[in-house]
Amino acid sequence: MRQIVAAGNWKMNMTPSETKALISELAPLVKDAKNKVIVCPTAVCLPAAVEAAKGTNILVGAQNMYFEDKGAFTGEISADMLLDLGIKYVILGHSERRQYFAETDETVNKKVLKAFEKGLTPIICVGESLEQREQGVTADLVRMQVKIALLGVTADQAKNTIIAYEPIWAIGTGKTATTEQAEEVCKTIRDCVCELYDCATAEAITIQYGGSVNAKNSAELFAQENIDGGLVGGASLKAADFSVIANS
Ligand code: 13P
Repeated sequence: MRQIVAAGNWKMNMTPSETKALISELAPLVKDAKNKVIVCPTAVCLPAAVEAAKGTNILVGAQNMYFEDKGAFTGEISADMLLDLGIKYVILGHSERRQYFAETDETVNKKVLKAFEKGLTPIICVGESLEQREQGVTADLVRMQVKIALLGVTADQAKNTIIAYEPIWAIGTGKTATTEQAEEVCKTIRDCVCELYDCATAEAITIQYGGSVNAKNSAELFAQENIDGGLVGGASLKAADFSVIANS
């Protein structure tokens, strides 16, 4: 049985002080959660988040990371910097990073390989635009994103990967994919992992859905055979809502 993973992507929200306050508010609400609970604040808030999460069952992840070890890469964050803080998870290839910061499948793959080399678990984001869905290429596109992201990744590493299927048209729009649409693409991803590796690897990998997940729709989404939790934006910024999702 795969564990459900509820991860909050806080995006560019919350100051360090607000980060501490939100984690303190969330901690008692999720202390008995069966699901794994991860919060991903922006880089400057990570030390505050790690501090606030000490002694709780809340895990902390980063929203991005660079693929080089160190050097002249102004503004970037290395895997070692995250590890030094005690961070174990990192979101890679979010559609907002692909759209606004020129991330490509190739840079996502380099980051995924670096994450595994260093012992971080990547949360790899994939998903189609509305135009691509209407063109009927969702499965092809998502399969291509998954295949490139996992180039050079071993089966053992793949088993410890989290893939988040996030249709771009459902992000921040309040327009959730239907349960059937979400399950269909998550199954496509699992089948693709089975083809790339083997079915044991596909059974082990965690596949989340993301895109307007909220306290009302999370239980039904997470009950699907191939949906192992959610990557949550807006609703993860409210302790009450995210705790319902974390307990779904
Ligand atoms: P929303 O939950 O705000 O739609 O954001 C989803 C997302 O992009 C999570 O990474």
